[in-house]
Amino acid sequence: MSAKILDGKAIAAELRESIRQEVDKQVAAGKPRPGLAVIMVGEDPASQVYVRNKKIACEKAGFKDVSQVLPAQTSQEDVLALIDELNADDTVHGIIVQLPVPEHINAEAIIERIHPCKDVDGFHPYNVGRLATRMMQLAPCTPHGVMTMLAKTGIPLRGLNAVVVGASNIVGVPMMLELLNERATVTICHSATKDLPKMVSEADLVVVGVGIPNMVKGDWIKDGAIVIDVGINRMEDGTLCGDVEFDVAKEKASWITPVPGGVGPMTIATLLENTMKVAYELECKL
Ligand code: GUN
Repeated sequence: MSAKILDGKAIAAELRESIRQEVDKQVAAGKPRPGLAVIMVGEDPASQVYVRNKKIACEKAGFKDVSQVLPAQTSQEDVLALIDELNADDTVHGIIVQLPVPEHINAEAIIERIHPCKDVDGFHPYNVGRLATRMMQLAPCTPHGVMTMLAKTGIPLRGLNAVVVGASNIVGVPMMLELLNERATVTICHSATKDLPKMVSEADLVVVGVGIPNMVKGDWIKDGAIVIDVGINRMEDGTLCGDVEFDVAKEKASWITPVPGGVGPMTIATLLENTMKVAYELECKL
């Protein structure tokens, strides 16, 4: 079988266009533009690319962009003070701090300081708890974007054997919860998993987010499986490569995401979706 490509770039462009139209409609009705604050501390090169892309997407969708780049030596107190300020600002609907942060900053303290109703990354324990208890409000952008892509295949997830490789807070764990909420049978694999090739070979759906180029081999994939590759690894020659051995996997899968142009663009489109939800839809009860 040669897989159909799940074109994240096209699906994300469609989603961003529908968001832009909704913003125009709401603004015409007198509502404010959604305001998004992306805070970056330091100069991590990968983060610089993400943050620039988020800024461009924000402006194109008609959002108010209140991004801030802080020097690498900024103290934790100063980052927390900026978050407090943004939490109190009614024109700011969403706040995210780009990860990783420099070593002297405690990422957990930062995540917990963002008001849960403005936590458009969905990383605050309140929002993770809501996702885990099937009361989802703001879900982490990458896994939620994957769910939007999976819906495009038209394949029901109920009852599928889903294997998630990688157990991070940003990808693996919320991915597991999203798939469970759709009644898939979910296995989560990580660095202590005993026989990863066997686990993957039994999966109808595989989602990989580990950050190791070509870690999942194409010949592990079951015939007809859906393969979602969350990895974006920059190789020495400057090219981007996923966590799945694409050329071999695409001959076995029914659907597969490319890298680049797969999951990556969906993360940003979902961030806009979450921010718009805060601006126009959610009622904050906290
Ligand atoms: N670093 C890698 N992915 C993400 C993300 O989705 N949000 C934030 N804040 N940082 C990240």
